[in-house]
Amino acid sequence: MSNIKSYEERLQGFDWDYAKEVLDWQDGELLNIGHMCSDRICAKGHADKTALIWEGFGDATAQYTFNDLRVLSNGFAKLLQDQGVEPGDRVCLFMDKVPALYVSFLGALKMGGVAQPLFSAFGDDSLEVRLASAETKAILTTQKHVKKVRKILDKLPALKTIIVVEGNPAKLKDGELFYDMNEHRVEDFECFQSGPESQSVLHYTSGTTGQPKGAQHVHSSVWGQALTTSWVLDLHDDDIYWCTADPGWVTGTSYGIIGPWVLGVTQCVLDSGFTAARWYKFMQDNKVTVWYSAPTAIRSLMRDGDDLVKKHDLSALRHLCSVGEPLNAEAVVWSEQVFGKAFLDTFWQTETGAMMITNYPGMKIKPGSMGKPFPGITAAVLDLKTNEPVDEPGTVGLIAFRPGWPSMFREYRNQHDVYRSKFVGAADDATPEQCRLDPDLWYVSGDRASIDADGYYWFVGRDDDVINTGGHLVGPFEIESALIEHEAIAEAAVVGKPDEVNMEVVKAFITLHKGFEFDDMLELSVMNFIRKSLSPLAMPQEIEVMEKLPKTRSGKILRRYLRSIEWGEDAGDLSTLEDD
Ligand code: PRX
Repeated sequence: MSNIKSYEERLQGFDWDYAKEVLDWQDGELLNIGHMCSDRICAKGHADKTALIWEGFGDATAQYTFNDLRVLSNGFAKLLQDQGVEPGDRVCLFMDKVPALYVSFLGALKMGGVAQPLFSAFGDDSLEVRLASAETKAILTTQKHVKKVRKILDKLPALKTIIVVEGNPAKLKDGELFYDMNEHRVEDFECFQSGPESQSVLHYTSGTTGQPKGAQHVHSSVWGQALTTSWVLDLHDDDIYWCTADPGWVTGTSYGIIGPWVLGVTQCVLDSGFTAARWYKFMQDNKVTVWYSAPTAIRSLMRDGDDLVKKHDLSALRHLCSVGEPLNAEAVVWSEQVFGKAFLDTFWQTETGAMMITNYPGMKIKPGSMGKPFPGITAAVLDLKTNEPVDEPGTVGLIAFRPGWPSMFREYRNQHDVYRSKFVGAADDATPEQCRLDPDLWYVSGDRASIDADGYYWFVGRDDDVINTGGHLVGPFEIESALIEHEAIAEAAVVGKPDEVNMEVVKAFITLHKGFEFDDMLELSVMNFIRKSLSPLAMPQEIEVMEKLPKTRSGKILRRYLRSIEWGEDAGDLSTLEDD
Protein backbone atom coordinates (compact mmCIF):
# COMPACT_ATOMS: atom_id res chain seq x y z
CA MET A 1 0.00 0.00 0.00
CA SER A 2 1.40 3.37 -0.93
CA ASN A 3 2.36 5.61 1.92
CA ILE A 4 2.61 8.65 -0.31
CA LYS A 5 0.36 11.65 0.16
CA SER A 6 0.66 15.28 -0.84
CA TYR A 7 1.80 17.92 1.63
CA GLU A 8 -1.72 19.33 1.74
CA GLU A 9 -3.24 15.92 2.53
CA ARG A 10 -0.72 15.38 5.31
CA LEU A 11 -1.68 18.73 6.80
CA GLN A 12 -5.42 18.05 6.82
CA GLY A 13 -6.49 17.77 10.47
CA PHE A 14 -2.94 16.73 11.42
CA ASP A 15 -2.56 14.96 14.77
CA TRP A 16 0.62 13.49 16.33
CA ASP A 17 -1.53 10.43 17.09
CA TYR A 18 -0.95 9.45 13.46
CA ALA A 19 2.30 8.10 14.86
CA LYS A 20 0.23 5.63 16.89
CA GLU A 21 -1.55 4.54 13.73
CA VAL A 22 1.78 4.05 11.98
CA LEU A 23 2.95 1.87 14.88
CA ASP A 24 -0.40 0.11 15.33
CA TRP A 25 -0.21 1.30 18.93
CA GLN A 26 -2.87 0.63 21.58
CA ASP A 27 -3.29 2.94 24.57
CA GLY A 28 -1.92 1.30 27.71
CA GLU A 29 1.11 -0.25 25.97
CA LEU A 30 4.51 0.32 27.54
CA LEU A 31 6.13 3.50 26.23
CA ASN A 32 9.78 2.49 26.43
CA ILE A 33 11.90 2.93 23.33
CA GLY A 34 14.15 -0.05 24.13
CA HIS A 35 11.11 -2.29 24.49
CA MET A 36 9.34 -0.82 21.46
CA CYS A 37 12.34 -1.42 19.17
CA SER A 38 12.78 -5.07 20.16
CA ASP A 39 10.21 -6.90 22.37
CA ARG A 40 7.25 -5.19 20.76
CA ILE A 41 8.38 -6.02 17.22
CA CYS A 42 8.81 -9.67 18.24
CA ALA A 43 5.38 -9.70 19.88
CA LYS A 44 3.94 -8.51 16.58
CA GLY A 45 5.22 -11.65 14.91
CA HIS A 46 8.56 -10.42 13.49
CA ALA A 47 10.96 -12.14 15.89
CA ASP A 48 12.80 -13.86 13.05
CA LYS A 49 13.02 -10.83 10.79
CA THR A 50 16.53 -9.42 10.30
CA ALA A 51 16.94 -6.25 12.32
CA LEU A 52 20.63 -5.50 11.74
CA ILE A 53 22.99 -6.31 8.92
CA TRP A 54 26.46 -5.28 10.11
CA GLU A 55 29.78 -5.01 8.28
CA GLY A 56 33.05 -3.89 9.80
CA PHE A 57 36.62 -3.49 8.64
CA GLY A 58 37.96 -6.18 6.33
CA ASP A 59 35.36 -8.87 5.84
CA ALA A 60 33.80 -8.82 9.30
CA THR A 61 30.03 -9.29 9.08
CA ALA A 62 27.18 -10.16 11.41
CA GLN A 63 23.40 -10.30 11.31
CA TYR A 64 20.88 -10.05 14.12
CA THR A 65 17.14 -10.72 14.13
CA PHE A 66 14.68 -8.74 16.21
CA ASN A 67 14.66 -11.68 18.62
CA ASP A 68 18.45 -11.38 18.93
CA LEU A 69 18.01 -7.68 19.68
CA ARG A 70 15.39 -8.56 22.29
CA VAL A 71 17.42 -11.13 24.24
CA LEU A 72 20.76 -9.36 23.87
CA SER A 73 19.38 -6.01 25.02
CA ASN A 74 17.70 -7.84 27.92
CA GLY A 75 21.15 -9.20 28.74
CA PHE A 76 22.76 -5.77 28.82
CA ALA A 77 19.84 -4.32 30.81
CA LYS A 78 20.28 -7.07 33.40
CA LEU A 79 24.04 -6.59 33.52
CA LEU A 80 23.54 -2.90 34.31
CA GLN A 81 21.02 -3.74 37.03
CA ASP A 82 23.41 -6.28 38.53
CA GLN A 83 26.04 -3.54 38.70
CA GLY A 84 23.69 -1.32 40.70
CA VAL A 85 22.84 1.06 37.87
CA GLU A 86 19.42 2.55 38.56
CA PRO A 87 16.67 4.10 36.46
CA GLY A 88 17.62 7.68 35.62
CA ASP A 89 21.37 6.99 35.76
CA ARG A 90 23.36 8.04 32.71
CA VAL A 91 24.98 5.16 30.85
CA CYS A 92 27.61 6.26 28.35
CA LEU A 93 28.15 4.23 25.20
CA PHE A 94 31.60 5.06 23.86
CA MET A 95 32.59 2.92 20.91
CA ASP A 96 32.67 2.57 17.16
CA LYS A 97 29.57 1.40 15.30
CA VAL A 98 29.91 -2.17 16.54
CA PRO A 99 26.81 -4.33 17.18
CA ALA A 100 27.19 -3.93 20.96
CA LEU A 101 26.52 -0.21 20.57
CA TYR A 102 23.07 -0.88 19.15
CA VAL A 103 22.24 -3.62 21.63
CA SER A 104 23.43 -1.63 24.64
CA PHE A 105 21.48 1.46 23.58
CA LEU A 106 18.25 -0.53 23.72
CA GLY A 107 19.34 -2.35 26.89
CA ALA A 108 20.15 0.84 28.77
CA LEU A 109 16.68 2.21 27.93
CA LYS A 110 14.99 -1.03 28.91
CA MET A 111 16.30 -0.82 32.47
CA GLY A 112 15.34 2.87 32.72
CA GLY A 113 18.84 4.23 32.17
CA VAL A 114 19.57 7.35 30.16
CA ALA A 115 21.61 6.40 27.09
CA GLN A 116 24.49 8.80 26.49
CA PRO A 117 26.20 7.84 23.24
CA LEU A 118 29.50 9.59 22.54
CA PHE A 119 31.48 9.75 19.31
CA SER A 120 34.35 7.26 19.64
CA ALA A 121 36.91 9.60 18.07
CA PHE A 122 36.59 11.99 21.03
CA GLY A 123 39.83 12.48 22.90
CA ASP A 124 40.11 12.43 26.67
CA ASP A 125 39.29 16.14 27.19
CA SER A 126 36.10 15.95 25.09
CA LEU A 127 35.14 12.80 26.92
CA GLU A 128 35.85 14.21 30.36
CA VAL A 129 33.77 17.34 29.85
CA ARG A 130 30.76 15.32 28.75
CA LEU A 131 31.02 12.61 31.40
CA ALA A 132 31.55 15.14 34.17
CA SER A 133 28.60 17.26 33.08
CA ALA A 134 26.33 14.21 32.86
CA GLU A 135 27.63 12.71 36.13
CA THR A 136 27.68 9.50 34.16
CA LYS A 137 27.34 6.40 36.32
CA ALA A 138 28.42 3.65 33.92
CA ILE A 139 30.32 3.49 30.67
CA LEU A 140 30.47 0.76 28.04
CA THR A 141 33.48 0.97 25.78
CA THR A 142 35.85 -1.22 23.77
CA GLN A 143 39.43 -2.17 24.47
CA LYS A 144 40.48 0.26 21.76
CA HIS A 145 38.98 3.23 23.62
CA VAL A 146 39.15 2.26 27.29
CA LYS A 147 42.57 3.91 27.67
CA LYS A 148 40.97 7.31 27.29
CA VAL A 149 38.55 6.48 30.09
CA ARG A 150 41.33 5.28 32.39
CA LYS A 151 43.21 8.51 31.86
CA ILE A 152 40.40 10.68 33.25
CA LEU A 153 38.85 8.33 35.76
CA ASP A 154 40.26 10.17 38.79
CA LYS A 155 38.36 13.29 37.78
CA LEU A 156 35.01 11.52 37.48
CA PRO A 157 33.76 10.60 40.96
CA ALA A 158 30.29 9.62 39.72
CA LEU A 159 31.62 7.01 37.29
CA LYS A 160 31.34 3.72 39.15
CA THR A 161 31.09 1.07 36.44
CA ILE A 162 33.41 0.51 33.48
CA ILE A 163 32.37 -2.26 31.13
CA VAL A 164 34.59 -3.34 28.25
CA VAL A 165 33.24 -5.19 25.26
CA GLU A 166 35.49 -6.98 22.74
CA GLY A 167 39.20 -7.66 23.09
CA ASN A 168 41.03 -9.69 25.64
CA PRO A 169 39.51 -9.92 29.15
CA ALA A 170 42.98 -10.60 30.55
CA LYS A 171 43.98 -7.04 29.64
CA LEU A 172 41.39 -5.38 31.86
CA LYS A 173 42.40 -3.37 34.90
CA ASP A 174 41.06 -3.92 38.38
CA GLY A 175 37.44 -2.91 38.72
CA GLU A 176 36.69 -3.17 34.99
CA LEU A 177 34.11 -5.66 33.84
CA PHE A 178 34.30 -7.69 30.63
CA TYR A 179 31.10 -8.00 28.59
CA ASP A 180 30.79 -10.76 26.06
CA MET A 181 27.55 -9.77 24.38
CA ASN A 182 26.67 -13.23 23.14
CA GLU A 183 27.08 -14.72 26.62
CA HIS A 184 24.43 -12.36 27.93
CA ARG A 185 21.23 -13.57 26.27
CA VAL A 186 18.33 -13.15 28.67
CA GLU A 187 14.87 -14.43 27.69
CA ASP A 188 12.78 -12.50 30.20
CA PHE A 189 13.45 -9.09 31.52
CA GLU A 190 10.98 -6.78 33.19
CA CYS A 191 11.40 -3.44 31.45
CA PHE A 192 11.37 -0.21 33.36
CA GLN A 193 7.83 1.18 33.27
CA SER A 194 8.77 4.46 31.66
CA GLY A 195 6.20 7.07 30.75
CA PRO A 196 6.13 9.84 28.16
CA GLU A 197 8.30 12.17 30.25
CA SER A 198 10.86 9.60 31.42
CA GLN A 199 14.37 10.52 30.32
CA SER A 200 15.73 8.47 27.44
CA VAL A 201 18.71 9.83 25.49
CA LEU A 202 21.25 12.52 26.35
CA HIS A 203 23.19 14.06 23.46
CA TYR A 204 25.86 16.71 23.88
CA THR A 205 25.91 19.52 21.34
CA SER A 206 28.31 22.42 20.89
CA GLY A 207 27.39 26.09 21.08
CA THR A 208 29.28 29.33 20.48
CA THR A 209 30.15 29.95 24.08
CA GLY A 210 30.91 27.62 26.94
CA GLN A 211 31.36 23.89 26.94
CA PRO A 212 28.93 21.55 25.13
CA LYS A 213 25.39 21.32 26.43
CA GLY A 214 23.55 18.10 27.22
CA ALA A 215 20.23 18.06 25.35
CA GLN A 216 17.96 15.77 27.32
CA HIS A 217 15.32 13.73 25.49
CA VAL A 218 12.42 11.63 26.78
CA HIS A 219 10.64 8.47 25.66
CA SER A 220 7.76 10.30 23.98
CA SER A 221 10.23 11.53 21.37
CA VAL A 222 9.35 8.29 19.64
CA TRP A 223 6.11 9.75 18.25
CA GLY A 224 8.00 12.37 16.26
CA GLN A 225 10.70 9.92 15.21
CA ALA A 226 8.22 7.25 14.12
CA LEU A 227 6.05 9.58 12.08
CA THR A 228 8.90 11.35 10.30
CA THR A 229 10.57 8.00 9.58
CA SER A 230 7.37 6.80 8.02
CA TRP A 231 6.46 9.90 6.02
CA VAL A 232 9.85 11.39 5.15
CA LEU A 233 12.17 8.37 4.98
CA ASP A 234 9.15 6.50 3.64
CA LEU A 235 10.21 3.19 5.20
CA HIS A 236 8.13 0.14 4.34
CA ASP A 237 8.18 -3.36 5.86
CA ASP A 238 10.39 -4.79 3.12
CA ASP A 239 12.94 -1.98 2.96
CA ILE A 240 16.65 -2.33 3.60
CA TYR A 241 17.58 0.98 5.13
CA TRP A 242 21.00 2.57 5.61
CA CYS A 243 21.60 5.62 7.79
CA THR A 244 25.26 6.54 7.49
CA ALA A 245 25.35 8.57 10.73
CA ASP A 246 27.20 7.50 13.86
CA PRO A 247 24.99 7.13 16.98
CA GLY A 248 27.42 9.45 18.75
CA TRP A 249 25.38 12.15 17.00
CA VAL A 250 21.62 12.59 17.06
CA THR A 251 20.94 11.40 13.50
CA GLY A 252 22.53 8.09 14.39
CA THR A 253 20.11 7.51 17.27
CA SER A 254 16.85 9.14 16.10
CA TYR A 255 17.13 7.64 12.59
CA GLY A 256 19.97 5.13 12.92
CA ILE A 257 18.32 3.18 15.74
CA ILE A 258 14.91 4.36 16.91
CA GLY A 259 13.11 5.32 13.67
CA PRO A 260 13.72 2.14 11.66
CA TRP A 261 13.48 -0.36 14.50
CA VAL A 262 10.36 1.00 16.12
CA LEU A 263 8.77 0.38 12.70
CA GLY A 264 10.32 -3.11 12.52
CA VAL A 265 12.44 -2.30 9.46
CA THR A 266 15.76 -4.00 8.61
CA GLN A 267 18.73 -1.69 8.70
CA CYS A 268 22.39 -1.96 7.71
CA VAL A 269 25.40 -0.54 9.47
CA LEU A 270 28.85 -0.12 7.95
CA ASP A 271 31.58 0.33 10.52
CA SER A 272 34.61 1.01 8.37
CA GLY A 273 36.35 4.13 7.17
CA PHE A 274 34.90 5.99 4.22
CA THR A 275 35.81 5.00 0.69
CA ALA A 276 33.40 5.45 -2.19
CA ALA A 277 34.10 1.92 -3.47
CA ARG A 278 33.26 0.37 -0.10
CA TRP A 279 30.06 2.39 0.23
CA TYR A 280 28.80 1.40 -3.22
CA LYS A 281 29.70 -2.24 -2.68
CA PHE A 282 27.92 -2.19 0.68
CA MET A 283 24.77 -0.82 -0.92
CA GLN A 284 24.98 -3.25 -3.81
CA ASP A 285 25.61 -6.33 -1.65
CA ASN A 286 22.85 -5.50 0.79
CA LYS A 287 20.39 -4.19 -1.80
CA VAL A 288 19.87 -0.98 0.14
CA THR A 289 16.56 0.65 -0.78
CA VAL A 290 16.50 3.77 1.42
CA TRP A 291 19.60 5.81 2.18
CA TYR A 292 19.89 8.69 4.68
CA SER A 293 23.19 10.53 4.48
CA ALA A 294 24.87 13.93 4.62
CA PRO A 295 26.04 16.46 2.03
CA THR A 296 29.74 16.03 2.88
CA ALA A 297 29.49 12.33 2.08
CA ILE A 298 27.63 13.08 -1.13
CA ARG A 299 30.28 15.61 -2.17
CA SER A 300 33.03 13.09 -1.39
CA LEU A 301 31.30 10.49 -3.54
CA MET A 302 30.91 13.05 -6.31
CA ARG A 303 34.62 13.77 -6.21
CA ASP A 304 35.37 10.09 -6.75
CA GLY A 305 33.51 10.19 -10.04
CA ASP A 306 30.65 8.55 -11.93
CA ASP A 307 32.56 5.56 -13.29
CA LEU A 308 32.75 3.96 -9.88
CA VAL A 309 28.98 4.24 -9.50
CA LYS A 310 28.45 2.57 -12.87
CA LYS A 311 30.50 -0.44 -11.78
CA HIS A 312 27.91 -1.26 -9.12
CA ASP A 313 24.34 -2.42 -9.27
CA LEU A 314 22.45 0.09 -7.15
CA SER A 315 19.10 -0.57 -8.78
CA ALA A 316 17.46 -1.38 -5.43
CA LEU A 317 17.82 2.25 -4.29
CA ARG A 318 14.45 3.97 -4.35
CA HIS A 319 14.68 6.85 -1.88
CA LEU A 320 17.50 9.17 -0.76
CA CYS A 321 17.47 11.79 2.00
CA SER A 322 20.08 14.13 3.45
CA VAL A 323 20.67 16.08 6.65
CA GLY A 324 23.18 18.09 8.61
CA GLU A 325 24.42 20.77 6.23
CA PRO A 326 23.17 22.76 3.30
CA LEU A 327 22.55 20.40 0.40
CA ASN A 328 23.93 22.19 -2.63
CA ALA A 329 21.95 21.99 -5.87
CA GLU A 330 25.02 20.53 -7.65
CA ALA A 331 24.95 17.49 -5.36
CA VAL A 332 21.22 17.03 -6.02
CA VAL A 333 21.68 17.22 -9.78
CA TRP A 334 24.58 14.75 -9.59
CA SER A 335 22.62 12.26 -7.51
CA GLU A 336 19.77 12.43 -10.02
CA GLN A 337 22.20 11.71 -12.83
CA VAL A 338 24.04 8.80 -11.26
CA PHE A 339 21.46 7.20 -8.96
CA GLY A 340 18.37 8.26 -10.90
CA LYS A 341 17.07 9.83 -7.66
CA ALA A 342 17.55 13.22 -6.06
CA PHE A 343 18.56 13.49 -2.41
CA LEU A 344 15.73 15.13 -0.45
CA ASP A 345 16.91 17.59 2.16
CA THR A 346 15.75 17.53 5.80
CA PHE A 347 16.54 20.11 8.48
CA TRP A 348 16.61 19.51 12.20
CA GLN A 349 18.88 19.58 15.26
CA THR A 350 20.02 17.67 18.33
CA GLU A 351 17.55 19.79 20.29
CA THR A 352 14.58 19.07 18.04
CA GLY A 353 15.06 15.28 18.29
CA ALA A 354 13.38 14.71 14.94
CA MET A 355 13.04 16.31 11.51
CA MET A 356 11.44 19.77 11.47
CA ILE A 357 11.64 21.11 7.93
CA THR A 358 11.52 18.46 5.26
CA ASN A 359 11.03 17.39 1.69
CA TYR A 360 9.24 14.09 1.26
CA PRO A 361 7.60 11.89 -1.35
CA GLY A 362 4.34 13.43 -2.48
CA MET A 363 5.57 16.99 -1.99
CA LYS A 364 6.62 19.25 -4.79
CA ILE A 365 10.41 19.54 -4.39
CA LYS A 366 12.37 22.69 -5.08
CA PRO A 367 16.05 21.72 -5.36
CA GLY A 368 18.17 23.77 -2.96
CA SER A 369 15.29 24.30 -0.52
CA MET A 370 15.03 22.43 2.79
CA GLY A 371 11.31 22.03 2.08
CA LYS A 372 8.44 22.96 4.37
CA PRO A 373 7.71 22.49 8.08
CA PHE A 374 6.71 18.91 8.82
CA PRO A 375 2.95 18.74 9.52
CA GLY A 376 2.32 19.51 13.19
CA ILE A 377 5.33 21.83 13.32
CA THR A 378 4.65 25.56 13.40
CA ALA A 379 7.71 27.28 12.02
CA ALA A 380 8.62 30.84 11.14
CA VAL A 381 11.50 33.05 10.23
CA LEU A 382 11.88 35.79 12.82
CA ASP A 383 13.04 39.29 11.97
CA LEU A 384 16.67 39.73 13.04
CA LYS A 385 15.88 42.90 14.97
CA THR A 386 12.31 42.58 16.27
CA ASN A 387 12.08 38.77 16.65
CA GLU A 388 8.64 38.94 15.02
CA PRO A 389 7.78 36.52 12.19
CA VAL A 390 8.63 38.14 8.85
CA ASP A 391 5.84 38.66 6.30
CA GLU A 392 7.78 39.48 3.18
CA PRO A 393 8.87 36.39 1.17
CA GLY A 394 12.64 36.19 0.80
CA THR A 395 13.42 38.11 3.99
CA VAL A 396 16.30 36.53 5.89
CA GLY A 397 15.73 35.88 9.58
CA LEU A 398 16.04 33.27 12.34
CA ILE A 399 14.45 29.86 11.93
CA ALA A 400 12.10 29.38 14.89
CA PHE A 401 9.53 26.84 16.02
CA ARG A 402 6.55 27.00 18.36
CA PRO A 403 7.45 24.68 21.25
CA GLY A 404 5.64 21.49 22.20
CA TRP A 405 6.39 18.95 19.44
CA PRO A 406 6.82 15.46 20.96
CA SER A 407 10.52 14.90 20.31
CA MET A 408 11.64 18.29 21.57
CA PHE A 409 14.51 18.32 24.10
CA ARG A 410 13.32 18.82 27.66
CA GLU A 411 16.32 20.69 29.05
CA TYR A 412 20.00 21.38 28.73
CA ARG A 413 21.32 19.34 31.61
CA ASN A 414 21.93 21.66 34.59
CA GLN A 415 21.81 24.74 32.36
CA HIS A 416 18.30 26.12 32.73
CA ASP A 417 19.34 29.68 31.86
CA VAL A 418 20.81 28.57 28.57
CA TYR A 419 17.66 26.55 27.84
CA ARG A 420 15.47 29.57 28.60
CA SER A 421 17.61 31.80 26.40
CA LYS A 422 16.61 29.65 23.41
CA PHE A 423 12.98 30.79 23.77
CA VAL A 424 12.04 34.24 22.58
CA GLY A 425 9.61 35.81 25.00
CA ALA A 426 10.22 33.46 27.96
CA ALA A 427 9.93 35.05 31.41
CA ASP A 428 13.18 35.32 33.37
CA ASP A 429 11.98 32.73 35.86
CA ALA A 430 10.27 30.38 33.38
CA THR A 431 10.98 26.71 34.07
CA PRO A 432 12.00 24.40 31.22
CA GLU A 433 8.51 22.91 31.33
CA GLN A 434 6.87 26.33 31.07
CA CYS A 435 9.07 27.14 28.08
CA ARG A 436 8.16 23.88 26.42
CA LEU A 437 4.43 24.20 26.96
CA ASP A 438 3.89 27.90 26.22
CA PRO A 439 2.40 28.11 22.72
CA ASP A 440 3.19 31.84 22.50
CA LEU A 441 6.96 31.41 22.66
CA TRP A 442 9.36 30.70 19.81
CA TYR A 443 12.23 28.23 20.12
CA VAL A 444 15.08 29.78 18.11
CA SER A 445 17.31 27.34 16.27
CA GLY A 446 20.43 29.47 15.78
CA ASP A 447 20.15 29.28 11.98
CA ARG A 448 19.16 31.82 9.37
CA ALA A 449 16.85 31.19 6.45
CA SER A 450 14.24 32.81 4.26
CA ILE A 451 10.81 31.57 3.21
CA ASP A 452 9.63 31.95 -0.38
CA ALA A 453 6.12 32.85 -1.54
CA ASP A 454 5.16 29.13 -1.63
CA GLY A 455 6.24 28.54 1.97
CA TYR A 456 9.54 26.77 1.15
CA TYR A 457 12.51 27.35 3.48
CA TRP A 458 15.93 28.29 2.08
CA PHE A 459 18.91 27.91 4.40
CA VAL A 460 21.27 30.88 4.66
CA GLY A 461 23.74 30.04 7.44
CA ARG A 462 24.30 29.87 11.18
CA ASP A 463 23.45 32.90 13.24
CA ASP A 464 26.32 32.23 15.63
CA ASP A 465 29.98 31.18 15.56
CA VAL A 466 29.37 27.43 15.73
CA ILE A 467 31.36 25.61 13.04
CA ASN A 468 29.66 22.93 10.96
CA THR A 469 32.37 20.69 9.57
CA GLY A 470 31.15 17.78 7.50
CA GLY A 471 27.76 17.95 9.21
CA HIS A 472 29.25 17.94 12.72
CA LEU A 473 28.99 20.96 14.97
CA VAL A 474 32.11 22.02 16.81
CA GLY A 475 32.23 24.84 19.33
CA PRO A 476 34.96 27.45 18.88
CA PHE A 477 35.17 28.01 22.63
CA GLU A 478 35.99 24.36 23.28
CA ILE A 479 38.83 24.47 20.76
CA GLU A 480 40.13 27.84 21.93
CA SER A 481 40.20 26.60 25.53
CA ALA A 482 42.13 23.52 24.47
CA LEU A 483 44.56 25.51 22.29
CA ILE A 484 45.68 27.73 25.14
CA GLU A 485 46.54 24.61 27.11
CA HIS A 486 49.37 24.10 24.60
CA GLU A 487 52.64 25.40 26.02
CA ALA A 488 53.38 27.62 23.01
CA ILE A 489 50.01 29.35 22.71
CA ALA A 490 49.09 32.55 24.49
CA GLU A 491 45.74 33.38 22.89
CA ALA A 492 43.51 31.71 20.34
CA ALA A 493 40.49 32.45 18.17
CA VAL A 494 38.81 29.74 16.13
CA VAL A 495 36.54 30.15 13.13
CA GLY A 496 35.21 28.04 10.26
CA LYS A 497 36.82 28.57 6.87
CA PRO A 498 35.25 27.45 3.58
CA ASP A 499 36.06 23.97 2.33
CA GLU A 500 34.90 22.31 -0.88
CA VAL A 501 33.97 18.97 0.62
CA ASN A 502 33.37 19.57 4.32
CA MET A 503 31.66 22.94 3.81
CA GLU A 504 33.74 24.35 6.67
CA VAL A 505 36.92 23.31 8.42
CA VAL A 506 38.48 24.69 11.59
CA LYS A 507 40.99 27.52 11.29
CA ALA A 508 42.85 28.78 14.35
CA PHE A 509 44.40 32.20 14.81
CA ILE A 510 46.93 32.21 17.62
CA THR A 511 49.48 34.35 19.36
CA LEU A 512 52.58 32.70 20.80
CA HIS A 513 54.22 32.97 24.19
CA LYS A 514 57.59 34.68 24.16
CA GLY A 515 60.43 32.39 23.13
CA PHE A 516 58.38 30.23 20.73
CA GLU A 517 58.92 30.24 16.98
CA PHE A 518 56.20 28.97 14.67
CA ASP A 519 57.57 26.30 12.34
CA ASP A 520 56.32 23.03 10.82
CA MET A 521 57.12 21.08 13.98
CA LEU A 522 55.13 23.41 16.16
CA GLU A 523 52.22 23.44 13.73
CA LEU A 524 52.11 19.64 13.75
CA SER A 525 52.39 19.57 17.50
CA VAL A 526 49.40 21.93 17.89
CA MET A 527 47.30 19.97 15.41
CA ASN A 528 48.04 16.68 17.13
CA PHE A 529 47.41 18.20 20.53
CA ILE A 530 43.86 19.11 19.52
CA ARG A 531 43.21 15.90 17.60
CA LYS A 532 44.13 13.86 20.66
CA SER A 533 42.52 15.92 23.37
CA LEU A 534 39.32 16.86 21.51
CA SER A 535 38.79 15.03 18.21
CA PRO A 536 39.90 14.90 14.58
CA LEU A 537 36.90 17.10 13.71
CA ALA A 538 38.11 19.86 16.01
CA MET A 539 41.69 19.77 14.72
CA PRO A 540 42.59 23.03 12.95
CA GLN A 541 43.32 22.47 9.28
CA GLU A 542 45.11 25.79 9.20
CA ILE A 543 46.88 27.79 11.89
CA GLU A 544 47.73 31.43 11.44
CA VAL A 545 50.04 33.18 13.86
CA MET A 546 49.26 36.83 14.60
CA GLU A 547 51.12 39.51 16.49
CA LYS A 548 47.90 40.13 18.36
CA LEU A 549 44.28 39.08 17.94
CA PRO A 550 41.59 41.62 16.99
CA LYS A 551 39.57 42.54 20.07
CA THR A 552 36.74 44.79 21.16
CA ARG A 553 37.54 47.66 23.49
CA SER A 554 36.36 45.49 26.33
CA GLY A 555 38.91 42.84 25.39
CA LYS A 556 36.66 40.26 23.72
CA ILE A 557 38.25 38.50 20.75
CA LEU A 558 36.45 39.39 17.52
CA ARG A 559 35.86 36.02 15.92
CA ARG A 560 33.21 37.56 13.68
CA TYR A 561 35.84 39.79 12.07
CA LEU A 562 38.26 36.91 11.47
CA ARG A 563 35.48 34.75 10.06
CA SER A 564 34.34 37.42 7.63
CA ILE A 565 37.88 37.71 6.26
CA GLU A 566 38.01 33.95 5.69
CA TRP A 567 34.70 34.03 3.85
CA GLY A 568 35.55 37.18 1.89
CA GLU A 569 32.56 38.91 3.43
CA ASP A 570 31.98 42.43 4.60
CA ALA A 571 33.22 42.53 8.19
CA GLY A 572 30.30 44.76 9.21
CA ASP A 573 30.48 47.36 11.95
CA LEU A 574 34.01 47.40 13.29
CA SER A 575 33.55 50.44 15.46
CA THR A 576 33.96 48.27 18.53
CA LEU A 577 37.40 47.09 17.40
CA GLU A 578 40.21 47.91 19.79
CA ASP A 579 42.04 51.15 18.97
CA ASP A 580 45.65 50.68 18.04
O1 PRX B 1 23.06 24.54 11.42
C1 PRX B 1 22.08 23.56 11.17
C2 PRX B 1 22.73 22.33 10.55
O2 PRX B 1 23.09 21.48 11.62
C3 PRX B 1 22.64 22.07 12.86
C4 PRX B 1 22.20 21.00 13.81
O3 PRX B 1 23.29 20.20 14.11
P1 PRX B 1 23.13 19.00 15.12
O4 PRX B 1 22.43 19.45 16.33
O5 PRX B 1 24.47 18.41 15.28
O6 PRX B 1 22.18 18.00 14.36
C5 PRX B 1 22.57 17.56 13.08
C6 PRX B 1 21.61 16.57 12.49
C7 PRX B 1 20.19 16.76 12.75
C8 PRX B 1 21.54 23.00 12.46
O7 PRX B 1 21.30 23.96 13.46
N1 PRX B 1 21.78 21.63 9.67
C9 PRX B 1 21.05 20.54 9.94
N2 PRX B 1 20.33 20.18 8.86
C10 PRX B 1 20.59 21.08 7.89
C11 PRX B 1 21.51 22.02 8.42
N3 PRX B 1 21.97 23.06 7.70
C12 PRX B 1 21.50 23.19 6.45
N4 PRX B 1 20.62 22.34 5.88
C13 PRX B 1 20.15 21.27 6.55
N5 PRX B 1 19.30 20.42 5.99
